Amino acid sequence: MKLLVLALSLFTTVVFAQAPGNVIPMPDKYVKGEGIFVLNSNSTISYNNNQLKTIAYYFQNELLSQKGITIQQQAKGASIALVLKPGTKNADSSAYQLSVKPNQVTISASHPNGVFYGVISLLQMALTAKNNQIEAAEITDAAAYGWRGLMLDESRHFFGKQKVKSILNWMAFYKLNTFHWHLTDEPGWRLEIKKYPNLALIGGIGDFLNPGLPAQFYTQADIKEIVAYAAERYIKVIPEIDMPGHATAANKAYPEYSGGGSAGHPEFTFNPGLEKTYSYLTDILKETNVLFPAGMIHLGGDEVSYGNEKWKSNPDILKLREQKNLKNDIEVEQYFMKRMADSLYNLRAKAIFWDEMVDVGVPREKTIIFWWRHDKPGQLRSALNKGYQTVLCPRLPLYFDFVQDSTHQYGRKWNKLYNPVEQVYQFDARSFSKDAKEQPLILGIQADLWTETVDGDARLDYLLFPRIAALAEAAWTKNNRKDFAAFSNSLKPHLTLYGQAGLYYYNPLKPLQNPELPVKRKKPLNYKD
Ligand code: ACM
Repeated sequence: MKLLVLALSLFTTVVFAQAPGNVIPMPDKYVKGEGIFVLNSNSTISYNNNQLKTIAYYFQNELLSQKGITIQQQAKGASIALVLKPGTKNADSSAYQLSVKPNQVTISASHPNGVFYGVISLLQMALTAKNNQIEAAEITDAAAYGWRGLMLDESRHFFGKQKVKSILNWMAFYKLNTFHWHLTDEPGWRLEIKKYPNLALIGGIGDFLNPGLPAQFYTQADIKEIVAYAAERYIKVIPEIDMPGHATAANKAYPEYSGGGSAGHPEFTFNPGLEKTYSYLTDILKETNVLFPAGMIHLGGDEVSYGNEKWKSNPDILKLREQKNLKNDIEVEQYFMKRMADSLYNLRAKAIFWDEMVDVGVPREKTIIFWWRHDKPGQLRSALNKGYQTVLCPRLPLYFDFVQDSTHQYGRKWNKLYNPVEQVYQFDARSFSKDAKEQPLILGIQADLWTETVDGDARLDYLLFPRIAALAEAAWTKNNRKDFAAFSNSLKPHLTLYGQAGLYYYNPLKPLQNPELPVKRKKPLNYKD
């Protein structure tokens, strides 16, 4: 037995020794070379194309702020060369090669995005290396999925520009590329709309735990700053303007567009029975679309039935039903969503919907469906059968407001199920469709962080780290390269980086290191289950 344990531990050492430079997500191919490259203030960096200039700066800034190492740019003969290769038009923009030799590092790609990811891999190797000694290696890498997303709900709790930028920087560190920003919901509206200033000034008052807080929101200047910050990191930002439900904060600001609600969710929906609601919301979408150059807006469409009881008696809605021959509330909802999607298509933007909307009948080439109800696999089936591009974000295991440890008390569970880091890691988007024709419809995966229980930065960190690293590997790394033991080993120096960054992270290897902090409880208004 002892021998077996010894043999196993030797075996694991060997396997772990192959963990490629502590790069997360695990690259496609990693071949260890001979010797080491020492990164220090004598190192220099060059780029062969001006499109790479900001990427070189990014690397310099990160090294300086995290390691205190200053490296200079140099036109030729630099020890770190960023190379944009002439590439074919359709080349995968995430692909890159990273070559580390004792005297020379070269990062090459046919798209600046690939060069950026090569720089990120090098940065991870540098930040996790002992004495700045980076192992020689040849890496060839590219993403498995083009949609590698994270959603943050800032309606229920507002975190502000600095925290959002920090999250975006961590997303970049893990090659995540899509930030879905849930900016409107019941407790607060967080986006300045110039034509309707009260949305932010009145709709921005309060949060999930404290309805009296002074208004918190992003001005349009803030939004531009954050979108530009994200773009420098190859992250696109997609806002969500949730409708027709989850509109309580907007209705507080402009009650004339409210379609009422139910006892549990008063003033929950916009009013689909009034013509003026459509022009009001279209104006809001116009301003929003200009602010977010991704050319996609998430229109929500979730959980309308939670708060549309008043639709049954609202005279405007009853009139609409009669005029348009709409048999029930679902048909009203579909009529409304179709019109709002059309408004968006007219702005040349795509519409994104939660999976309740698969039956609305909107065109598939302009629409993306988010499958979130893990207990309703039929919704995903329908989306794929109808040919919709689809992003997978099922509550289990991709809702990060679920706890990650059985002993944690303040986040969500599904009966007894929750979302430990390993289950996030093992999530396999490929397993949801065996049909080769259907596979390309699965754009990728996303984790959603709802914030009913997230009353501050420490709790946000606690739910996000280290699951963000597992999410990244589930989204980026091809199945045959995934290995949870190797990931766990690479994660160790990453946990050290979290600590150095002052994050209050959960340590799955030492669960008691940072205990779960209590959250003020409130009977949740809209505790999605
Ligand atoms: C959702 O969790 N209501 C999309």
